[in-house]
Amino acid sequence: MKAFNTMRLDSVCENMVEFDTVEDCPSAMALAEELSHDGRVDIIGGGSNIVFSDEYHGVLVHPAILGWDVNMLENGAAEVVIGAGVELDSLVSYLASAGFWGLENLSGIPGTVGGAAVQNAGAYGQEFGDFVKYVKVWNCKEKKFEKLPKKELNYGYRFSTFKMLENSGKYIVLEVSIEVSKKFNPQLSYGPLKQISDCDNLTPVDVRDKIIAIRESKLPKVDEVGSAGSYFKNPVLDQTEWNQFCDIIREQGVEIDTVPHFVTANNMFKVPAAWLIERCDWKGKILGNAGVWHNQPLILVNATGKATANEILMLEEAIISDVKKRFGIELKPEVVRL
Ligand code: EPU
Repeated sequence: MKAFNTMRLDSVCENMVEFDTVEDCPSAMALAEELSHDGRVDIIGGGSNIVFSDEYHGVLVHPAILGWDVNMLENGAAEVVIGAGVELDSLVSYLASAGFWGLENLSGIPGTVGGAAVQNAGAYGQEFGDFVKYVKVWNCKEKKFEKLPKKELNYGYRFSTFKMLENSGKYIVLEVSIEVSKKFNPQLSYGPLKQISDCDNLTPVDVRDKIIAIRESKLPKVDEVGSAGSYFKNPVLDQTEWNQFCDIIREQGVEIDTVPHFVTANNMFKVPAAWLIERCDWKGKILGNAGVWHNQPLILVNATGKATANEILMLEEAIISDVKKRFGIELKPEVVRL
């Protein structure tokens, strides 16, 4: 599976089924179910947010539907209908070059459009779900195509309908419809982006270039060091949890004002997991062949290229345990473990 996961784990999988048109999905799924010994079938996009076990015993299905259609609407807006198998970054690059605002802050994110719709990929103040109008899916339980409108997709921080437990194995994303616009609308609230806010005639390509430069300064290059992007979610605390966290921090002699955090619209407190992990002295550390990235400790890497799934999981557990002991906060993986 090394070529099918950006963590570059050399895991083994018996069967993989790929299809490349919407119409082929039902027969591909029927084949996958027939091949599966125990009924386990999982969907894989770009493999950029997955940690495989050493031996994966289900059947993987890869929707490889490519291409997109752009339909111009009024006032410079456009609806774009995209195949689930399209590389997110090729879409982002095209839209930015064509002068559309919307997805430029998502530049450089590895993975497919289908994966972005499931995961609600987000970066630098933009989330993919904000632009989605509907998602066309195959409903595996009821064996029918459906168009799920935005209001049924429940987008939140790295969350959507597709991630709800009761929907596990129910849907395959086939096409995603988004709306973007040529109306000047940069999203520059993320610290380092403020530097370009005064530029004259700022274009989506300028923002894309800046985002790529920021990513290159912090994140490992996908083709050089295996990783699955952010390994953990940033914990979101309610008022009681935040108060408990503040007490712990003060006991450690740290001023709470010096702890980076962000208060969300519904009065929750988002604390950077990177900060917690760095305080536990994990930044740049290596355990066996698995490591914590030296410029961004939220990213676990296949440090030597020879890491096994178990080594990654051991590192994950050690970090969760240390952060829990020191700060009382339990980090939750952002990656999907198969
Ligand atoms: N920080 C440290 N030490 C570090 C790096 C960061 O303490 O070495 C602290 C700093 O306080 C910094 C804060 O962490 O201000 C946030 O760091 P950063 O801006 O790099 O973002 P992040 O919260 O760690 C999230 C996303 C990334 C996304 C960036 C930018 C999650 C789980 N991750 O990371 O998404 O690129 O914001 O928007 O929300 C991904 O999902 O795979 C991913 C890379």
